[in-house]
Amino acid sequence: MNLLEVKDLRVEFSTPDGTVTAVNDLNFSLKAGETLGIVGESGSGKSQTAFALMGLLASNGIISGSANFEGREILNLPEKKLNKIRAEKIAMIFQDPMTSLNPYMKVGEQLIEVLKLHKGMDKRTAYAESVKMLDAVKMPESRKRMNMYPHEFSGGMRQRVMIAMALLCRPQLLIADEPTTALDVTVQAQIMQLLNELKDDFNTAIIMITHDLGVVAGICDKVLVMYAGRTMEYGTSKEVFYSPSHPYSAGLLKAIPRLDSQGDILPTIPGNPPNLLRLPKGCPFQERCERVMPQCSRETPELLEFDHGRQRACFWDWHEESCK
Ligand SMILES: Nc1ncnc2c1ncn2[C@@H]1O[C@H](COP(=O)(O)OP(=O)(O)OP(=O)(O)O)[C@@H](O)[C@H]1O
Ligand SMILES: [Mg+2]
Repeated sequence: MNLLEVKDLRVEFSTPDGTVTAVNDLNFSLKAGETLGIVGESGSGKSQTAFALMGLLASNGIISGSANFEGREILNLPEKKLNKIRAEKIAMIFQDPMTSLNPYMKVGEQLIEVLKLHKGMDKRTAYAESVKMLDAVKMPESRKRMNMYPHEFSGGMRQRVMIAMALLCRPQLLIADEPTTALDVTVQAQIMQLLNELKDDFNTAIIMITHDLGVVAGICDKVLVMYAGRTMEYGTSKEVFYSPSHPYSAGLLKAIPRLDSQGDILPTIPGNPPNLLRLPKGCPFQERCERVMPQCSRETPELLEFDHGRQRACFWDWHEESCK
């Protein structure tokens, strides 16, 4: 059975210039312990997808579709029910840890507070559990760190605190929204490695949101490639990484730094993501696509299944070409 099943998820924002469809009929599912990567450039709708699931949308946002979590609908729940789910079942890590940590409270107090509030633990048990969790995220001198304020931690260490806090209540699902973009490359790799280990230790399902298809290849079972709010490609990360079937995924892959190309300038996909208020007719990626055909500006390619469970939205005859 699926832990999470998202059907036709749509997020629209009403703005003075018109309606922006930030997430356009997304479908995906996640089993317990599974990891899904959501990949795409800036503005593709990754965060809004996460916010919709967490009930954190801005007030001008409207959600439709469904998200079934453990057999229960979680979209558009009343605040009280949402709070309970957010505390106990689904946790989220944000790009900037300072937005979620209280700067005026010692890290230990913040961790203990979560356990007292949501798990009803007494202070002594909560202290022990918090130290254990800081150890689990490989925080050196965890007891000493309990007594420190967030600003006394480095960026990477703060992100470890956030991960510890997110896992405290043993959630079934962890949503990590670009958890490493604010960190330098070495620390990024350490945090990713840590998440990879933790998902096995805790059997937590993860939705990993990132710009970087390379990150996904290392830790995700499945990947959903998003552009202008739509799914361009969906499949196992192995399939998408080794044989991308959409020109957009192929472009993102070319932009991943490789060990053998140190110092070279990475190719990026020419052009910029489109303005969602002025999307072209047809495929949203057509203006930047290497494989563009006349058909692409006439109609929008449907997301269709191929090769046992893979999906793509593209007219390009990828299969024929890759079989040559
Ligand atoms: N409150 C809002 N009102 C109008 N448009 C919004 C609002 N919030 C987000 N958007 C638009 O929704 C689109 C998707 O935004 P989202 O934050 O999901 O992108 P993202 O893929 O997470 O990008 P990034 O990688 O930069 O974080 C963007 O075009 C953004 O401008
Ligand atoms: Mg985002």
